[in-house]
Amino acid sequence: RIQAIPMAPPDKILGLTEQFNVDKNPKKTNLTVGIYKDNWGQVTTFPSVARAQTILDQSFEMNTDLSYLPIKGCPDFRENVLKFLYRDSCPEGVELLDQDRISFVQTLSGTGALAVASKFLSLFISRTVWFPDPSWPNHANVFQNNGFKNINYYTYYKEGKLDVDGWIQDLEKEARETTDEYPPCIVLHACCHNPTGLDPTLEQWRRILDKIQELKMIPIIDMAYQGLDTGDLIKDTYLLRLSLDKNRYQWPNGLFLCQSFAKNMGLYGERVGSLSVVTPSGGDVKHNVDSQLKKIVRGMYSSPPGYGSRVANIVLSTPHLKDLWFEDVKNVAQRLQSVKAKMAERLDWESLKDPSRQHGMFLYTGLNTSSVDILRERFSIYLVQDGRLSLSGLNDSNIDYVCDALRKV
Ligand code: LMR
Repeated sequence: RIQAIPMAPPDKILGLTEQFNVDKNPKKTNLTVGIYKDNWGQVTTFPSVARAQTILDQSFEMNTDLSYLPIKGCPDFRENVLKFLYRDSCPEGVELLDQDRISFVQTLSGTGALAVASKFLSLFISRTVWFPDPSWPNHANVFQNNGFKNINYYTYYKEGKLDVDGWIQDLEKEARETTDEYPPCIVLHACCHNPTGLDPTLEQWRRILDKIQELKMIPIIDMAYQGLDTGDLIKDTYLLRLSLDKNRYQWPNGLFLCQSFAKNMGLYGERVGSLSVVTPSGGDVKHNVDSQLKKIVRGMYSSPPGYGSRVANIVLSTPHLKDLWFEDVKNVAQRLQSVKAKMAERLDWESLKDPSRQHGMFLYTGLNTSSVDILRERFSIYLVQDGRLSLSGLNDSNIDYVCDALRKV
């Protein structure tokens, strides 16, 4: 039977780096994956994180324990991440913490959180999920791998603009008519929508959340870029705050938050993130959810890795490092904005679908597949096939080369 296995397609984002690595052109430029690089093209460690590493390296007790973490992760990490997310970032969450209504597992970054969430949901609650069109290409892969049978896309982007009316109409038309006995899930990008960079306004989010509630859909918030929009970690948490407005919303099948410290602490390879499930009532419901999440993690990868979560925990629990971290994130966002400003000086911005409205790590150029191919084949400039360009891959030594090529193409 192994003879009959077909070739899987290469990953739409990471597959390109494999190609980039063997490209011999000295001018090659990798603008694919969302990894933050500084103006020297380096993936540098955030100063707050470097200091936390030093503390960890010097701490005998913390550093000698190479034993397994508990299945649900490091208890201190859990406590500090919960406080960061549901107290600092979102005061609406304090009551939920007091009522012990939030189920939590440390996960292998945001992708791991999505995997555990989708496995849990497909086992117990749902078979159908809605993603924005377009979305991060790996979303569908993760949900399919974890038991989701029906993958749907709602209108998100039309003619260079966010299309909220189209989005709401799609939900109204399709999700309402579902014959499925299970409530459908909907994935929402918390900020810096990947790939378009276009986010709804608060008023638009309220309309969308109202519709989601009316249709009894289950919200799954994917928060991979907290802080990279405005440079302010707290401000960027607006979608979670809105969703937890208890005077307006109740989520009878829970609200799922998949969160990552990859981008906003630069802990990519350490795989540090979390899944939290806001349960409707706490008590037995919460404890049962806890127990099932634990069982899923044990069956998937047993327990999460230790080092990165210890580092993140030190940042979150040491006041001066936490302040420094907020500064670090601000600096990252400022550099992303300055790269955009430099591009705007060199290019006809309007022809790039007015990227000044786009937020975060990427520029959604609007280039079609054949233009992306030409950039890669003729200039060794690598973008994701949908025209997404990772801004921090640009720096003072390559921005002219890339902008010249973009203009020509
Ligand atoms: C991206 O979209 O580039 C990032 O989320 C990294 C990844 O894993 O695809």
